[in-house]
Amino acid sequence: MGASFVAHVLFLLWFFATTFSFFCKAESNVTCNEKDKQALLNFKQGLSDPSKNLSSWSDQEDCSRWDRVVYDNKTGRVTELHLSDSRLGGEISGSLLQLEHLNLLDLSGNDFNCTPIPTFLGSMASLTHLDLGYSNFSGHIPHQLGNLSNLRHLNLGGNYYLYADNFHWISNLSSIQYLDLSNSKHQSEVGWLQIMSMFPSLSMLFASDCELVNLNPSLGFVNFTSLQYLDLFNNLFSHEIPNWFSNLTTSLLYLDLARNYLRGEIPTSIFNLQKLDSLFLYSNKIIGKIPESLGQLKHLTYLNMLDNSFSGPIPSSIGNLSYLEGLWLSENQLNGTIPKTIGLLSNLEYLFVGDNFLTGTVDEGHFTKLSKLEYLDISHTHLFFNVKSNWVPPFQLTTITMSSCKIGPNFPMWLQTQRSVRHLLLSKSEISDKAPGWFWNWTSNIKIIDLSDNQIEGDVSEIVLNSHFINLRSNHFKGQMPQLSTNVQELNIANNSISGPISSFMCQKMNRKNQVMVLDASNNLLTGALPHCWKYWQSLTHLDLGSNDISGRIPYSLGSLVALQSLHLQNNSISGDIPSSLKKCSNLSLIDIGENLLSGAIPPWIGEMTNLTILRLTSNGFKGHIPLQICQLSSLIVLDLANNSLSGHIPNCLKNISAMTIPTPRFEAQYSYDYLGGLYYYGGTYLENLKLVPKGLELEYEENLGFVKMIDLSSNNLSGSIPSEISVLSELCFLNLSRNQLIGKIPEKIGIMKKLESIDLSQNHLSGEIPLSLSSLTFLSRLNLSYNNLSGKIPLGSQLQTFDAFSYIGNPQLCGNPLPKNCTIGEESQNRTPIGKTEEDSNNSNFYIGMGVGFAVGFWTVCGVLFFNRTWRHAYFKFFDDMKDCIYVATVLNVNWLLEKLRSCHL
Ligand SMILES: *[C@@H]1O[C@H](CO)[C@@H](O)[C@H](O)[C@H]1NC(C)=O
Ligand SMILES: *[C@@H]1O[C@H](CO)[C@@H](O)[C@H](O)[C@H]1NC(C)=O
Ligand SMILES: *[C@@H]1O[C@H](CO)[C@@H](O)[C@H](O)[C@H]1NC(C)=O
Ligand SMILES: *[C@@H]1O[C@H](CO)[C@@H](O)[C@H](O)[C@H]1NC(C)=O
Ligand SMILES: *[C@@H]1O[C@H](CO)[C@@H](O)[C@H](O)[C@H]1NC(C)=O
Ligand SMILES: *[C@@H]1O[C@H](CO)[C@@H](O)[C@H](O)[C@H]1NC(C)=O
Ligand SMILES: *[C@@H]1O[C@H](CO)[C@@H](O)[C@H](O)[C@H]1NC(C)=O
Ligand SMILES: *[C@@H]1O[C@H](CO)[C@@H](O)[C@H](O)[C@H]1NC(C)=O
Repeated sequence: MGASFVAHVLFLLWFFATTFSFFCKAESNVTCNEKDKQALLNFKQGLSDPSKNLSSWSDQEDCSRWDRVVYDNKTGRVTELHLSDSRLGGEISGSLLQLEHLNLLDLSGNDFNCTPIPTFLGSMASLTHLDLGYSNFSGHIPHQLGNLSNLRHLNLGGNYYLYADNFHWISNLSSIQYLDLSNSKHQSEVGWLQIMSMFPSLSMLFASDCELVNLNPSLGFVNFTSLQYLDLFNNLFSHEIPNWFSNLTTSLLYLDLARNYLRGEIPTSIFNLQKLDSLFLYSNKIIGKIPESLGQLKHLTYLNMLDNSFSGPIPSSIGNLSYLEGLWLSENQLNGTIPKTIGLLSNLEYLFVGDNFLTGTVDEGHFTKLSKLEYLDISHTHLFFNVKSNWVPPFQLTTITMSSCKIGPNFPMWLQTQRSVRHLLLSKSEISDKAPGWFWNWTSNIKIIDLSDNQIEGDVSEIVLNSHFINLRSNHFKGQMPQLSTNVQELNIANNSISGPISSFMCQKMNRKNQVMVLDASNNLLTGALPHCWKYWQSLTHLDLGSNDISGRIPYSLGSLVALQSLHLQNNSISGDIPSSLKKCSNLSLIDIGENLLSGAIPPWIGEMTNLTILRLTSNGFKGHIPLQICQLSSLIVLDLANNSLSGHIPNCLKNISAMTIPTPRFEAQYSYDYLGGLYYYGGTYLENLKLVPKGLELEYEENLGFVKMIDLSSNNLSGSIPSEISVLSELCFLNLSRNQLIGKIPEKIGIMKKLESIDLSQNHLSGEIPLSLSSLTFLSRLNLSYNNLSGKIPLGSQLQTFDAFSYIGNPQLCGNPLPKNCTIGEESQNRTPIGKTEEDSNNSNFYIGMGVGFAVGFWTVCGVLFFNRTWRHAYFKFFDDMKDCIYVATVLNVNWLLEKLRSCHL
């Protein structure tokens, strides 16, 4: 849709220029035809007109004076009805048929409430121009429209629920010049191209989002003679781009094949389209090199081939495209250096070459004539941006996207010459230098700043931040926390050396009017107690003060943060108990207060926090029983209560935690680009981050957090047996019950928990035999049953033998491989069949025999430890438009981050 915009605008400009004159015409003394007047009054009667746009249509007034009606001043007959964007609805009366001289009927931009297009329109033989676009018509496109043989302009676009079985009806529209069928559905039509290509005067064809499947003409060639605009954006073409463009070499100006599934290389005939002005091929699966013949397209203004699989170098002939204003080549596999000829493109405004394998140096020479450049993306490449420190670039950029490409070690001083920057993305750019004195003041008009993962130094105590999104994570900033203007919505200053009492930042006068939603100051040197001025921080949705040196109690006033969705206070020295006020924060989906000095009981009201997904209370002094109410937390995926002094039984009801019994749904990234504007950004992409110890090793989870499903109750005083119901938690990946006082047997059906990657039951008093079903856990890569009273033979015939003896030691009565102790005949229990094991199960486990650890390791990312794909980058690292920043804030940050983001997640 976005790309066809230019064509639409051009056309509409022309159209209004030619028709506007009718409206400002001098008055005439020929009165309007009475029959036409009555017909229009009847037509008006059927319509709903809430905005009274047709109020001038009255019986008293001659219809020559009516708004939106054009009539012929010689005959008095009505010739045109301009009713677009009038909020009309209701019924379209057949009385229109009496307007025998009507040439133009424009009903676009209204709302006809999903009614079908009236068939009688096909009898209005005088029509040359029929516009029904974006008017919420639905149903079958009436084939009667095909009778309108004088029609030159037909717009049915933007009616998402229109469809047709075939295009045969169209073939009679012999005068058609402009045809817009966008968004109507034509999946079953395979011969459409042949039919379209028979119209001798067709010059504009818009068929985006039509579910068309085939771009090959059935006769093998096309016969377009006048086609100038061809928009086939967002269809279902999944073959190679056909080679029939040769017959369009002198006519075609605009070609949009973007967002399809096109494969193969670009056919050379495309480069013979001498007049081509816009070529959109983005988001396909096109491979091969971009040929040097690209330079033949002398009139090219927009070239967008983003998000394909182009390889090889950027052709140096690109310097011949002197009209080029927009070049989008990001997200391909281009390699080699950026040709210097790019510096000749004196009209270039958009240069997007990021996310490629480009190498070499970019220097002043690449920008010699780029005085109009506004948007630059060289991020995620191997490029070295190497310019002199006194360089004065010819351009004024608004968007600087240079993350993950080398800029440093020196701070890029040329930035100071740029006075219009709105987005500055310099993450991971190897800058290890002091931020210059002018820098912070210079940033005050920038909306999005990302300097994360560099080694930038400087004392930030005195600076005032004013940007919407500020990411300074993982640098060498020091001093006290900076001050924040009311514009700041997200500040991530984690992993620096910020010191001073947390309260002086939170309660400081200037910061009291803040609008901050996300504050991450974790991993710094902040000290003192949590203050009582949370009432100034009501916008907070995400707060992370983890890994500092904060002491004192959790203040009761923290409960005033009712918007809070995640709270991280882990790894500090916070003491006391969990204040009951916290239950007012009912949007909380993540609580991490592990590694503190907290004590008291786990409050039963925790069961009322129904959105809770992650609860981490590990390594504190919590006492008492695990409250049964915890089982009401149906969204819980991480329950980590390890290393406390909890006693009593493991609740039987854990089986009610449905998030651990149903798979994490697949993630459909909802992202969209405005490719014409071409701006797309990282911005405010705060990702939750949680350190867990799922398999004996500490791991940091970000994007993949939704796939971790774990219960860790280790190192407490829990007694009783492991409830057999636990086996219902079939999505659980990590189970750690070690270092408790548990007795009884390992649940027989543990083998149903197919996703288990790690089981640690060590250092309890478990007895009985190891259930055979354990051997069917094909993802299991860590097992620790040591130091219990288990007996009998370790089940054979699967990967249970791939774990070493340390998994089993300390069980004096256990025998068999891998333990050194051989089983005597008596100890060996033969023909043991696990309860509930079906034949199918055992076939499965036979199938996996022999794959052993290799298989398990290969697939252990079921629970997503090193999971990172393009979809996420699309969704979180790319955003497009200044104007959309605020929409972004509203939609991304206000969603309940985990539920919204991860419920719709897939692997
Ligand atoms: C009638 O319309 C024509 C063009 O459509 C215009 O040139 C002419 O001046 C008009 N005559 C009057 C009397 O308005
Ligand atoms: C229409 O008005 C014009 C002047 O505006 C006049 O010359 C002409 O005679 C009038 N014609 C009729 C039919 O009234
Ligand atoms: C192609 O179009 C031309 C001109 O409209 C016409 O003369 C010719 O017959 C057409 N060819 C075919 C095969 O339809
Ligand atoms: C171009 O059109 C002519 C008919 O007008 C046809 O014979 C020829 O095959 C077409 N060429 C291509 C490449 O489609
Ligand atoms: C680019 O990649 C191709 C194959 O992918 C390789 O043959 C070629 O040497 C690479 N060129 C450069 C300059 O790295
Ligand atoms: C930032 O610059 C403006 C004018 O350019 C000046 O008035 C202001 O004092 C500066 N602020 C700081 C903190 O240097
Ligand atoms: C839980 O989250 C949903 C959607 O994310 C939200 O509509 C609901 O209000 C939340 N529940 C509570 C108790 O906050
Ligand atoms: C265990 O049995 C194997 C053969 O089955 C034998 O080679 C080995 O010596 C025995 N080990 C002990 C400790 O009895």
